[in-house]
Amino acid sequence: MIGIAKPMIDQTDADAVLSALKSGQLTGGPIVQQFETDLAQYSGYKHAVVVSSGTAALHIAMHALGIKAGDEVVVPDFTFIATANAARYVGATPVFADVDARTFNLDSASLASKITPKTKAIIPVSLYGQAYDVDAVSEIARKHDLPVISDNCQAIGTAWNAKRNLGDAMATLSFYPTKNMTSTEGGAILTDRDEWAEECRLWRNIGQRKPYDYAHVGYNYRLNSVSAALGLSQLKRLDAFTRKRQENARTLNDLLHGTAGIELPYADARATHVYNQYTLKVAGSKRDALKAHLQQSGVGSNVYYPMPLSTLETFGKTAGSPTANRISAEVLSIPVHPALTDDELQTVGAAVKSFKG
Ligand SMILES: Cc1ncc(COP(=O)(O)O)c(C=O)c1O
Repeated sequence: MIGIAKPMIDQTDADAVLSALKSGQLTGGPIVQQFETDLAQYSGYKHAVVVSSGTAALHIAMHALGIKAGDEVVVPDFTFIATANAARYVGATPVFADVDARTFNLDSASLASKITPKTKAIIPVSLYGQAYDVDAVSEIARKHDLPVISDNCQAIGTAWNAKRNLGDAMATLSFYPTKNMTSTEGGAILTDRDEWAEECRLWRNIGQRKPYDYAHVGYNYRLNSVSAALGLSQLKRLDAFTRKRQENARTLNDLLHGTAGIELPYADARATHVYNQYTLKVAGSKRDALKAHLQQSGVGSNVYYPMPLSTLETFGKTAGSPTANRISAEVLSIPVHPALTDDELQTVGAAVKSFKG
């Protein structure tokens, strides 16, 4: 079976992990600091604060901005649940805006229509690895004086007009094993503002300024040194991983171009797509049949996401946003990861093309 994701672990990663394990300092210390320095430099932000997951990153970004009970945070209706949960962790309410049918990212007209006097932040998502429309979201944010937290958990290395720093208040990353690089579990907050970086560091580490001096309540969201060593080692090869994903996406585009009933991923010329996922849209209620056909052909695929968040019971089971409703019935992600061999890539393309519906 050709899997939908595969971490790229090599001997240099194993050596880095072993060295961290033998260093005698299993959490904190120089490896974590080096990972933060390299990550900030790679991403074009002044600070990177590494944490135990992307979910933790979103959570403490909310705290650092002072989002609290009674506030509203606008999020896309079509994303991973952690984006919306971030607001709920601090007692705020996620308000769901619809997405664009081509990019799968926040639709600016819908976003603008969801802003109320209670809105305190916007969390756009760079879904599947492609930056959201930074120009449109920034303009709305500026008009209403709202901070933007870019959920780039699927999109390390994405850029807008060639800039990885999206000009936001903060951005979050995830290093979960299906992401473009991994630290096993792990995540980060990126920001240019010293106070926000400092607040994130406090919230990450039990609110502690120095031993037994606490600014406020906090969590244990630290990233251990062994994970940081893996992340640091992976970051050195991230550009090569990304190039291979982009090359694989081009090959799939060539192989699948013109296939009836299938729409290929749209690439916005202003965005750098790092292809965490290569996501088709399948017309005419045939998505699940294509998924089954691929399975029979030995090709893994997955649906991210089968329903808009607002239609989930935990978010009040509403009727959902119109475009999010439509595309959640159509999307199917197929393998694009850098571990694919040329033969496997051809097999993926041939399996999609041989689907007769
Ligand atoms: C868009 C998005 N936000 C947040 C997260 C949360 O990251 P993590 O799994 O590291 O907690 C993910 C991870 O799957 C994600 O895809």
